[in-house]
Amino acid sequence: MTIGIDIGGTKIAGGVVAPDGQVLTLTRADTPAYDATRTRGVIVDMIRELGAAHQVTAVGVGAAGWIDATRDRVRFAPHLAWRDEPLRDHVAAAVGLPVAVENDANAAAWAEFRFGAGQAAGESMALITVGTGIGGGLILGGRLLRGAHGFAGEPGHQLAVPDGLPCGCGRRGCLEQYASGQALVRLAQQAAVEQPAAAEGLLELAGGSPEQITGPLVTTAARAGDKLAREAFEQIGWWLGSCLADLVQLLDPRLLVVGGGVAEAGELLLAPARDAYQRALSQRGELPAASIRPAQLGNVAGVVGAADLARELI
Ligand code: BGC
Ligand code: NA
Ligand code: ZN
Repeated sequence: MTIGIDIGGTKIAGGVVAPDGQVLTLTRADTPAYDATRTRGVIVDMIRELGAAHQVTAVGVGAAGWIDATRDRVRFAPHLAWRDEPLRDHVAAAVGLPVAVENDANAAAWAEFRFGAGQAAGESMALITVGTGIGGGLILGGRLLRGAHGFAGEPGHQLAVPDGLPCGCGRRGCLEQYASGQALVRLAQQAAVEQPAAAEGLLELAGGSPEQITGPLVTTAARAGDKLAREAFEQIGWWLGSCLADLVQLLDPRLLVVGGGVAEAGELLLAPARDAYQRALSQRGELPAASIRPAQLGNVAGVVGAADLARELI
């Protein structure tokens, strides 16, 4: 058995995972806001708690950031406090188990490839996670692509809009600012401020104040047919679809998988994404191209992938 930990911008999940990808126990906590030491503490406590109940031999930690090529540290994380954080050695010393560090979206991609939507992918697949941020994981020739410095597979920080909105990575105009869960919330909040009459449904769910509009609330409103909520999904879906077409130009994978918390909204996100994808592909419809599928493992993908990647340490 191995443990997988998935550290996102808002939530930390941990689980004990069997070699066939089954999650035996799962636990969750909130990510301490911009506090590197406390975040590490939460992870260590989680591993101790999970390890007490099972026979575990290694730990995989998926973190929402740029992992060094040596895979011992988080070099930078747009939504977390970590700057050059030697996560592997800290955690390994605290729990007494070998630890593998991986990018969170890489871990999720690996899990989908091995046990989920990617089983139909043959040897090549790209995954995009739409959550607090936009993450990516690329699998080519059956292997996870990490790049020369460890930072491959960061579609969230590809340029979408020159001189556009400021991004957590320090630059402007990244895709993440237009296609993520944060973008969805921003669009819905803006619409509620600018068109309060049209946003009646959204505002009612949010107790009357635009700042209280959250991602899950936009999904609920959109499901109920709310026009502004649907438009917010159409906008982020449009950006997502264009990015998927760009991935096809670069990699020509067999399959494109869309995961992450916002993707749980299903067709609300995927329908506009497919539409934009078809339009953005060159030779649209004339040549074969990857199909787009929803992720299958839901919010445990990161946990399962990190745990599976840790097996190479045993
Ligand atoms: C980070 C990625 C991460 C993604 C999803 C992005 O902002 O740059 O490393 O995978 O968010 O958590
Ligand atoms: Na990645
Ligand atoms: Zn960025």
